[in-house]
Amino acid sequence: SLNIRLAVIPGDGIGREVVAEGLKVLDAVGLKLETTTYDLGAARYNATGETLPDETLAELRGFDAILLGAVGDPSVPPGVLERELLLKLRFELDHYVNLRPVKLFPGVETPLAAARPEDIDMIVVREGTEGPYAGAGGIMRRGTAQEIATQESLNTAYGVERVVRYAFDKAVARPRKKLTLVHKTNVLTYAGDLWSRVVERVSAEYPEVTTDYCHMDAASMFFVTQPQRFDVVVTDNLFGDILTDLGAAIAGGIGLAASGNVNPSPKGSESWAPSMFEPVHGSAPDIAGQGKADPTATILSVAMLLDHLGLTEEAARVEQAVADDLIGRQTAWAQRSTREIGDDITARVTG
Ligand code: NAD
Ligand code: IPM
Ligand code: MN
Repeated sequence: SLNIRLAVIPGDGIGREVVAEGLKVLDAVGLKLETTTYDLGAARYNATGETLPDETLAELRGFDAILLGAVGDPSVPPGVLERELLLKLRFELDHYVNLRPVKLFPGVETPLAAARPEDIDMIVVREGTEGPYAGAGGIMRRGTAQEIATQESLNTAYGVERVVRYAFDKAVARPRKKLTLVHKTNVLTYAGDLWSRVVERVSAEYPEVTTDYCHMDAASMFFVTQPQRFDVVVTDNLFGDILTDLGAAIAGGIGLAASGNVNPSPKGSESWAPSMFEPVHGSAPDIAGQGKADPTATILSVAMLLDHLGLTEEAARVEQAVADDLIGRQTAWAQRSTREIGDDITARVTG
């Protein structure tokens, strides 16, 4: 059968703890699996100054997929690992779709008192290679009273159209067939104009899809007051980053939120590169090393990874094991450690 070659980047802080549990669950699925672990992250940077060496990046291109924990550490200046490791991977491997489901599982507590699972079931398609993450910028007269810092947002017709098309394809395959563009067209008039026109043009090819628009500020309100408004959300890189932490919060917490940095090109094509799956959360220095991190987000990211590789049945088994575990949490009397949660979900996958 299929032999999966997986690269693993545990990274920093709780990234290392949650990835161990994700791999445990993946092992239990019973596939032919070959994993290679890369020690990228804060320790490597502090020891050698390296973030993502060219040879490592070249090697990573040869895997079927990548599983990442989290990067970022208080010992490293902000932005170094985030930009030169994580974002570099997303950009170099052309992960133009950052797929972030926002889904309330049955039995999971949400801060939205009246929300039921059917009210919170959306998928945020966050653009992954452009926006303010990729724009030019600079500082002039740093440290003076006349200092000026600029940080541009880069939006190309090519980059916007490909992610919008992906989002429409997702929307048309879902029962509600609704797509909402989230932007800030009333202020970011140049980028907003491009995004709006692309959505309008592509929507003509998807007559079954209802297309909607929502400003970013209003969207953050509606996520809390009327999450049932949303089915597929397509948005820019930074808006999508913010909105999916909010999405995580309404759907049971950041410890449950999974993501995939997807390169949708067909395997074998020139533009194909391995997709990379990771929890939405970061390295959580405040709880690192204490066994307190919830590994569920990583385990659900493993399910997304399996799904991406076409292993639909295996993906469903992992997601079901998580769903069953989440139901059990309602009545559980004891707080479980990272490892205990991983063990319990692994046992459910094994059957
Ligand atoms: P964070 O997501 O690491 O933590 C925010 C809060 O959520 C913390 O209180 C943390 O304890 C809690 N939390 C996060 N994951 C949890 C889990 N699995 N279980 C239980 N609680 C959890 O965000 P932050 O504090 O803003 O950032 C910390 C570092 O992580 C920074 O260096 C940041 O750049 C980096 N970061 C990396 C990624 C990534 O690698 N994809 C994502 C976000 C932040
Ligand atoms: C995320 C993170 C990253 C992002 C950072 C660490 C670069 O917040 O994966 O959501 O902003 O995309
Ligand atoms: Mn984020």
